[in-house]
Amino acid sequence: MLLPGDGIGPEIIAEAVKVLEAVDKKFKLRLKFDEELIGGAAIDAHGVPLANATLEKCRTADAVLMGSVGGPKWDGLDSSIRPEKGLLKIRYELGLFGNLRPAILYPQLADASSLKRELVAGLDILIVRELTGGIYFGEPRGIRLLESGERQGYNTYVYAEHEIERIGRVAFEMAMKRNKKVCSVDKANVLEATVLWREVMQALSKDYPDVELLHMYVDNAAMQLVRAPKQFDVIVTGNMFGDILSDTAAMLTGSIGMLPSASLGKDGRGLYEPVHGSAPDIAGQSIANPLATILSAAMLLRYSLSEARAAQAIEKAVGKVLDQGLRSADIYSEGMSKVSTVELGDAVVAAL
Ligand code: IPM
Ligand code: MG
Repeated sequence: MLLPGDGIGPEIIAEAVKVLEAVDKKFKLRLKFDEELIGGAAIDAHGVPLANATLEKCRTADAVLMGSVGGPKWDGLDSSIRPEKGLLKIRYELGLFGNLRPAILYPQLADASSLKRELVAGLDILIVRELTGGIYFGEPRGIRLLESGERQGYNTYVYAEHEIERIGRVAFEMAMKRNKKVCSVDKANVLEATVLWREVMQALSKDYPDVELLHMYVDNAAMQLVRAPKQFDVIVTGNMFGDILSDTAAMLTGSIGMLPSASLGKDGRGLYEPVHGSAPDIAGQSIANPLATILSAAMLLRYSLSEARAAQAIEKAVGKVLDQGLRSADIYSEGMSKVSTVELGDAVVAAL
């Protein structure tokens, strides 16, 4: 299922579809595509950011590839029907609790990073973000009127043991296939919900004796990510901390325009989307970087369709295109060729 969404969403999804069609031909995958609205586009058409019929179609799909949601046009809406709610609803309703956000530095882009080359060369971090719980979904929530006549905003940071344990397992399993290091990020010096988080992670680590488990407070983790990012292998954390830290990690790699993500449930179905947003300021100009979405399509092939060969072919093709010196505006540096969204997508297809 394709959900292009808003802003640059339709442009980058179009490039990812071209790439998927190319691997489909090459590896005889027999992919079938369907397309629906989400976010502001769905609000305009149906009055809600995710129609129930769309959600039901997504439930029956093997995987969902999403562009991005949101934009200034819908910023004034009540928070219950903002475009972002469509995305939060689909994550929650499909039970996609495990969000994988790899931050990998392509060697060709080392100079696009905001950090010195030696700090980021070879960077390969995986952020495992809990995606259907924590303060994003905790009840009660809202804005209430106090007796004093003043309004008060409130949210609830909650995690049950099973929610912590299942995301912890995702992190440990991933670490087993990597460098066997998990850093669990919390705020256990202040928040009880994360005292429990730390306890559950510690207990879980007994099942993974080969994996080294480390705990870090979120403020320190934010600092360490920009001080010495290569100390990390897998980072596991809650919904809000993961949202913030994954944007930080993205920038280390040169551009958030390069970062894919996978959101997985317990049965292998998943939602795949770039980490970046809808970038309404550059929408419609064909200057957006489609690579994060193309790499998300590769993750889709790997995790939901078990087509690792096709996934690798896409990832290799992206490397080739970067080797050729082709760059969208966000990763452009002197001496490279600046190309459009469509040209970059075409180049990936050609490299395949
Ligand atoms: C992300 C985004 C979303 C989030 C928004 C658009 C709701 O920032 O995927 O990181 O906060 O999860
Ligand atoms: Mg975010």
